[in-house]
Amino acid sequence: MSNRQNCDSGSLSPLELYERVTTQGDKVRSLKAAEAPKDEIDTAVKLLLSLKLMYKATTGEGYKAGSPPTDFTPINNAPTLAEDDDFVDPWTVQTSSAKGVDYDKLIVRFGSSKIDKELINRLERVTGQKPHHFLRRGIFFSHRDMNQILDAYENKKPFYLYTGRGPSSEAMHVGHLIPLIFTKWLQEVFDIPLVIQLTDDEKYLWKDLTVERAYEYAVENVKDIIACGFDINKTFIFSDLDYLGMSPGFYKNIVKIQKHVTFNQVKGIFGFTDSDCIGKISFPAIQAAPSFSSTFPQIFKGKEDIQCLIPCAIDQDPYFRMTRDVAPRLGYPKPALLHSIFFPALQGAQTKMSASDPNSSIFLTDTPKQIKTKINKHAFSGGKDTIEEHRKYGGNCDVDVSYMYLTFFLEDDDKLEQLKQAYTSGALLTGELKKVLIETLQPLIAAHQERRKQVTNEMVKQFMTPRKLAFEF
Ligand code: TRP
Repeated sequence: MSNRQNCDSGSLSPLELYERVTTQGDKVRSLKAAEAPKDEIDTAVKLLLSLKLMYKATTGEGYKAGSPPTDFTPINNAPTLAEDDDFVDPWTVQTSSAKGVDYDKLIVRFGSSKIDKELINRLERVTGQKPHHFLRRGIFFSHRDMNQILDAYENKKPFYLYTGRGPSSEAMHVGHLIPLIFTKWLQEVFDIPLVIQLTDDEKYLWKDLTVERAYEYAVENVKDIIACGFDINKTFIFSDLDYLGMSPGFYKNIVKIQKHVTFNQVKGIFGFTDSDCIGKISFPAIQAAPSFSSTFPQIFKGKEDIQCLIPCAIDQDPYFRMTRDVAPRLGYPKPALLHSIFFPALQGAQTKMSASDPNSSIFLTDTPKQIKTKINKHAFSGGKDTIEEHRKYGGNCDVDVSYMYLTFFLEDDDKLEQLKQAYTSGALLTGELKKVLIETLQPLIAAHQERRKQVTNEMVKQFMTPRKLAFEF
């Protein structure tokens, strides 16, 4: 679907790159001043050098402190990907490493910021809540402007949450729960409005589906989303095929975005080619628009300046780099972002899961028996071939999919750490580790199925009706 040759790995504007170099330079200086450990300084210097190289590749000129680039038009197709680099865009995730994508490199390439201890501590301080285990374990690992959001929260300035889901099939798998579980947590912690977009139009454009079928999938997926426990008084869920036709606010923002992004820019960001249909080429504006509060006049009383926070998997970042690039030109605030790593396929972390391969993932509709069989049969193991070798050398948690899944779903930090040590030392066998995962997932999925059963058509309709939420603006 995507075109590698055409795809610019960074897609950062010269100005954004310039800002990254400046910030990194400051960081190196302060590390040196603080006489930080040598390896820490070396890592920071390395990053600074690679950012400077990217700046030069993009602008054609060397970085000069104090003189930002004057031409802000991003130059496409530079810098290019090295052969062994991971490839990540909204449609393809590829890496040659069994450990999965190198996320630190991705942060540099995408120009986002790492969610470090300092930010997590600040979040805890400001909200008074224990940080979610997705934060503590680096599952949400990268962000843009999260400090601004915490400033807003401290100053009692309003903001809202936006996330979404592409309904490519009826069946959702456990990986799809990650952003939803985290968004629900954020909604509870901050007590703010949430909008959830179902891009049935996107799936119609990219997949072999009728419009009617795409919409049906959207409604089925909405039931799973509702089953995650979102507050009906604080959440608006919409299908593009549905809401676009009834919301002038939404459409006005789409055309505003379309006017400010060129074909060249989306080619650079998404790898579109001349033979892609024009629906695809203009779609990014539709995913961008909900980042602006005026897309939802019924919720925000027409206010245009309420900032948005978007939790999503990192592969969605290209949409929001584009959004952040146009926002100032429209006089809107840039959305802030929280990025998650990918949920690995049962077969290993080289790729993200696919809803079309039933054995690559655990579905929300799987029975306890199916869960057990799939994990026992298909979950890639970091254990050794024989019990003797395993006892002697131990297993490798870095590539073991059962262990990875437990980092997502086993909330107890101490238990997780014990499992890691026992597995690494060889005391715990693969079959035993798998058993823990099976016993973690079976009740979790059964509970989800129970909650989904309680979701009525009437509830779906309510969630999907454009309306005021329980907040005054
Ligand atoms: N394009 C996303 C997908 O295919 C769906 C989506 C739309 C989304 N808007 C979003 C995801 C905002 C995260 C945040 O799954």
